[in-house]
Amino acid sequence: MLLTATLSLLLMQQAPAENVDWDAEFGVEEVERDRATGEIPVEPYEQKNENAGAKPFTGTDMAETFGGRDGIRQIAERFVEINFADPRIQGIFAGHDEVRLRRTIFEQFCYILNAGCDYTGRDMKSSHEGLGSRKADLNAIVENLQQAMQEQDVPFAAQNRFLSKLAPMSRDVINR
Ligand code: HEM
Repeated sequence: MLLTATLSLLLMQQAPAENVDWDAEFGVEEVERDRATGEIPVEPYEQKNENAGAKPFTGTDMAETFGGRDGIRQIAERFVEINFADPRIQGIFAGHDEVRLRRTIFEQFCYILNAGCDYTGRDMKSSHEGLGSRKADLNAIVENLQQAMQEQDVPFAAQNRFLSKLAPMSRDVINR
């Protein structure tokens, strides 16, 4: 009884330590964004257009239908924005680099739509490994992309042509 009372008194008297670097105490690594790009650096990998996961369309029809590079950028950025805000999948996106994703998704779409870009991101398999995404998550992503394309008035036929380029990637982006 006396021991308990003494212990609680001791605990109560202990003022919270000041100037403690709690991140260091708990082994939390500091994330440093690149000053120029605002992106979190990733492990080195070989950059090549094949990483985009699909061959580009030929000709300029698709690029034009998507509103050229400006239209594609709007769609890509809106798509990323909707995904981060979508309660069905935001748990998977939380903590990932939205700045990098806006750039890499734009490059991937622009490359596949043959609008004159190179894709410099990672391949679909390695960038989705361990995310734990399922078929239902992919369905959510596809709906969000349809919404982003719809908002830019991309006709349904062109939307579907683009989605069929992405469809074979499902085996690489779904983990379970
Ligand atoms: C065909 C469908 C998909 C395409 C075309 C696609 C495309 C991409 C691209 C281009 C990247 C960037 C790679 C890089 O950082 O180098 C990426 C990363 C990412 N994707 Fe997907 N993705 C697809 C499906 C999915 C699904 C179903 C999910 C989960 C709901 C998902 C979640 C993510 C996340 C969280 C990252 C960031 C990974 C990281 O920070 O390392 N993606 N995706």
